[in-house]
Amino acid sequence: MFKNIIIATIFTSILHASPERGEIIYKQMCFTCHGPNLEGGIGPSLNDDYWQHGSSPQAILDTINNGAPGTEMIAYKDVYPAEDITALRDFILSQQAGFREVVRSYYADNRFLGEPLTPELFNSTESSKQTPIPENSLWIDHKHEGGVRMQAKLYVKTPGDYQFKLNSHGRTVVYIDGEEVYSYDPDEPQEKLISKTVKLKSGTYSFDLLHESKKRHGWRVSGSLVNLTGGGSFRLHGSSLAGSIPKEIHAGPNAKVIRKWIRNIPPRSLLCLLPNKVIVSFNPEDGTVSHAWHGAFVNQTPSLPDRSAAPSEVKGSPISDLGKSLSKPTKFDFIAYETQGDKAVIHGRVDGKLRALTIAPNGSQSFTITTK
Ligand code: HEC
Repeated sequence: MFKNIIIATIFTSILHASPERGEIIYKQMCFTCHGPNLEGGIGPSLNDDYWQHGSSPQAILDTINNGAPGTEMIAYKDVYPAEDITALRDFILSQQAGFREVVRSYYADNRFLGEPLTPELFNSTESSKQTPIPENSLWIDHKHEGGVRMQAKLYVKTPGDYQFKLNSHGRTVVYIDGEEVYSYDPDEPQEKLISKTVKLKSGTYSFDLLHESKKRHGWRVSGSLVNLTGGGSFRLHGSSLAGSIPKEIHAGPNAKVIRKWIRNIPPRSLLCLLPNKVIVSFNPEDGTVSHAWHGAFVNQTPSLPDRSAAPSEVKGSPISDLGKSLSKPTKFDFIAYETQGDKAVIHGRVDGKLRALTIAPNGSQSFTITTK
């Protein structure tokens, strides 16, 4: 009897890992990389729509436990007991607002034509493809004929009266927690549009959007769920962020040469990444080194946090002494570049003669250039 009570107590403390405890640990450890308000920094934002490793409670728990190998996100199961990891996960979940765990299913053919669109009908039909959408927005990756279903969890933080404002090219029905809240059929008169006002408390709801159209469209449903009382809204559509996952280029054991658009350096510059983390920016138009940095890497996607089109940037400490011995050639004609082990070699004609300029690492914070 006594034993049972103890077991029951332990279980409750595990199942109800407190978000408050999670917040305390977050503020001791995670904020340095994920920001004091989960807005991101060195690590990604933990409260926006985009979840590279999955937004489900289990996926978030797995990421915290196992980390993301090869990144600064270490496996925290080696650092904290399981209850603390669950508390961290629950704190993160308590900070979410919007659609999460979005899964898109395609259904072939026009088999839903004429049938009322209900979750039961879709449940009883085999989907041809099911894809989790890490950006948690509704988008369709190719022209598809037939039915589409978007299932998600809806996290509401601000309670209020909400209503769907959608544009649809075909029939669309939306269910929240199993209740039909929106229904549109282009073949029916506008009066038949159902767009109920729903009272949502803060919490998590299941969201189910069912769609079917007679014609192929690349883009069929757009709009948002609008909070009529407190303002604010959840956008339902967005574009694919595939390919804009944060990307950094670091030096490896061998030299790398890349070309990137970087503010304030000459446009055609070759960035030579040396294994000692020195980056040398060589201008092939005039044969000079315009900039160099140590402890450096290239961030290809500084545009991600604000979704802008910002150019790549070099992160590192500038090297001010760019080799005084380097005199500017009177004429440089660039031919090609290559790498040889830890060195970058640039071929060109200097004052009409074939030359190879070798850029090599020198110590931990410097480089040398030799001409042959
Ligand atoms: C030293 C920096 C650093 C610290 C400290 C850190 N993280 Fe991370 N975290 C990262 C990076 C970088 C990534 C992205 C990994 C990738 O690119 O795959 C990440 C990813 C994540 C993700 C997955 C996000 C997604 O989009 O799927 C979660 C969840 C997460 N971290 C939680 C935590 C928690 C909780 C803590 C504190 C216990 C923590 N992190 C501490 C750097 C850090």
